[in-house]
Amino acid sequence: MRMYDLIMKKRNGNVLSDEEIDFMVQGYTKGEIPDYQMSAMTMAIFFQGMNEQETLALTMSMAHSGDMLDLSDINGIKVDKHSTGGVGDKTSLALTPMVAALGVPVAKMSGRGLGHTGGTIDKLESFTGFSTAISEERFKNNVNRIGIAIMGQTADLAPADKKLYALRDVTATVDNMSLIASSIMSKKLAAGADAIVLDVKTGSGAFMKAEEDAFGLAKEMVKIGNGAGRKTSAVISDMDQPLGFAVGNALEVREAIDTLRGNGPEDFVELCLTLGSHMVVAAQKAQNVEEARVMLEKVIEDGSALDKLAEFIEAQGGDKELVYHLDKLPMASIIEEIPSLMEGYIEHIECDEIGICSLILGGGRETKESDIDLSVGLVLRKKVGDFVRKGESLAVIHANDSEKLRNAKERFLKAYTFSETPVAKKKLIKGIVT
Ligand code: URA
Repeated sequence: MRMYDLIMKKRNGNVLSDEEIDFMVQGYTKGEIPDYQMSAMTMAIFFQGMNEQETLALTMSMAHSGDMLDLSDINGIKVDKHSTGGVGDKTSLALTPMVAALGVPVAKMSGRGLGHTGGTIDKLESFTGFSTAISEERFKNNVNRIGIAIMGQTADLAPADKKLYALRDVTATVDNMSLIASSIMSKKLAAGADAIVLDVKTGSGAFMKAEEDAFGLAKEMVKIGNGAGRKTSAVISDMDQPLGFAVGNALEVREAIDTLRGNGPEDFVELCLTLGSHMVVAAQKAQNVEEARVMLEKVIEDGSALDKLAEFIEAQGGDKELVYHLDKLPMASIIEEIPSLMEGYIEHIECDEIGICSLILGGGRETKESDIDLSVGLVLRKKVGDFVRKGESLAVIHANDSEKLRNAKERFLKAYTFSETPVAKKKLIKGIVT
């Protein structure tokens, strides 16, 4: 078999067999197929697409390109959650302690920020001393002992995806349905959970901009998950504006903690309750999502979800006092309001631009090697549908460099469009695929 022939076959719009896909994935993982041939292949896939069988074969081949984690020595039904990535998406920070407080074992692998989207691991590092670089043994012990552990994706877990993702990120081939579905599901299958709840984002801040594409992606992933024997469901949620108000690592941690104290933004709370209730049902801790929702509201009210977060932070070397004393979290040196240049109802927020503003401030990585500034970012004061007067604040910007602040502010103001007539608020949950 020759990679050249496979590239040509896909370029001409033909279907690759399971064997051909496996040859390509294993060859690329071992370094036998060079980046330039794989780049040509991903671009051919981008234009010609892959059918369901090809997507499944790609997923299974990537999942088996490294270790398949065995979580059988963790008691209970392990439920994983994964988001396709968004701006201000701090869901895992609040949601995982919420479900763990209800006895759902959380054994989760998380990633770092990518492009304009943030990553859970970076956010968690706002807690001094916290580490996700823990051994598999400690990971499993922590789940059995306190019900929750989060680990960084190890080099041995779906290494084909790790390599391919880095390549797609620099060759403009991220936003293809089959490539996203196989990337996410290969990691989820290798990470060993019994059930998976997916949060598929749609809108200007998501990889899937169009709602019908997000539904297509959700259906594809749910089919792959269920086909592999993992109970899988997906929530399709809005990412046409940032989730909640905070964008930036420590600022999002603060908002997640506020949420666990019962003071969360409406859209963010809704998303946590929706995803959480599906996780609780999948773990068989509630009969139905209505019952699960009430249970989740209760762990916020009685403070047990907040205490679970503190326990989790401490178990992975972090300073749990930060959970109770938010003023100890990393804080930027310059904090300024951004006054609106216009008056009217906010019609649209170019959501990925807000993510890029946080990146400009230093809150994300420009290259894989970049260090990030945990303290910077933005806290929105207004969202779609809100009325704003000229000069009224649209957001608070947190920066450590006045040049970066100026650039981010300029870009931020261009991300908003206004209407003279009232604009409807955004609906957060677009649908559920089971
Ligand atoms: N998240 C992933 O893990 N992979 C993708 O391809 C897109 C989002």
